[in-house]
Amino acid sequence: MDHTDEGTRGSGSLPLDGRVIVVTGGLGQLGREFTKALLSAGARVAVVDLAVTAETASQHGVPGYADDQLFVQCDVTRRRSVNGALEQIAARWGVPHGLVNNAALDSPPDASADENGPFESFPESSWDRVMEVNAKGVFLACQVIGGAMAQAGRGSIINVSSIYGVVSPDQSLYEYRRQRGETFFKPVAYSASKSALLNLTRYLATYWAPRGVRVNSMILGGVFNNQDPRFLEGYHRRVPLGRMARPDEYNGGMLFLLSDASSYMTGAELVMDGGWTAW
Ligand SMILES: NC(=O)c1ccc[n+]([C@@H]2O[C@H](COP(=O)([O-])OP(=O)(O)OC[C@H]3O[C@@H](n4cnc5c(N)ncnc54)[C@H](O)[C@@H]3O)[C@@H](O)[C@H]2O)c1
Repeated sequence: MDHTDEGTRGSGSLPLDGRVIVVTGGLGQLGREFTKALLSAGARVAVVDLAVTAETASQHGVPGYADDQLFVQCDVTRRRSVNGALEQIAARWGVPHGLVNNAALDSPPDASADENGPFESFPESSWDRVMEVNAKGVFLACQVIGGAMAQAGRGSIINVSSIYGVVSPDQSLYEYRRQRGETFFKPVAYSASKSALLNLTRYLATYWAPRGVRVNSMILGGVFNNQDPRFLEGYHRRVPLGRMARPDEYNGGMLFLLSDASSYMTGAELVMDGGWTAW
């Protein structure tokens, strides 16, 4: 089906009418926002997540869009699981038109002390776990789902990176934790994994350009999620726009990169960080 001249249901200048978009980590904080925005832009959304169950699917189904959402339980670190996800999606809607590689692991602020401790003792097992989801999981999703898109001769892939994949975490933001006796440092694995995506993006953008698949990265700043007020105070001071992002503030960039509005863009980085990396 040719989607370039389809109807105008959805978000005006960025229509995704009828396009099939896979969102990995679709049950997470940003994945849920991406899903809602895609549905209202007219897309059909495959919510691919490790945490999909009958219960989470009914809890997170967007009302009014039952036919346009497919919840797929999948572990992106397992090729067989990703193959199974693609089979389910393709059986329902055909080969996807878009893939948002959004699933990721980060050490939560309340992770065990060694996970958030000094670099010198950062556990190898934590490094492996984070790399497995954040880097290998994206590699596998690109290989399996992106590969099918390349065979179909069209598609758009977004790899979701972070400011911490471009610059180092500012460890001074966590000083308040060290002052109260913890040995807290934002860990290394997340940063390294998010950097890896930037060159995976460039590699695949050039590799798949002749096959009509565009590949771009989104570099996102921190999202408000009821963080500790002392963290927020430091973060607000550190970012030119003076605040963290709302969870819906990345939807515009995501729709742009998936739609034909970005048809001449590949191998690029869309930075949405409130100005964090501007100074
Ligand atoms: N939230 C932020 O402040 C922020 C900032 C910059 C970048 N990002 C990036 O945005 C993306 C989304 O972040 P978020 O805050 O919504 O994360 P989140 O933790 O809320 O959601 C991540 C989702 O990924 C799923 N997941 C984890 N491992 C998986 C696996 N092996 N297979 C399939 N699914 C798996 C989880 O079940 C979860 O639903 C991530 O790539 C993150 O690095 C987030």
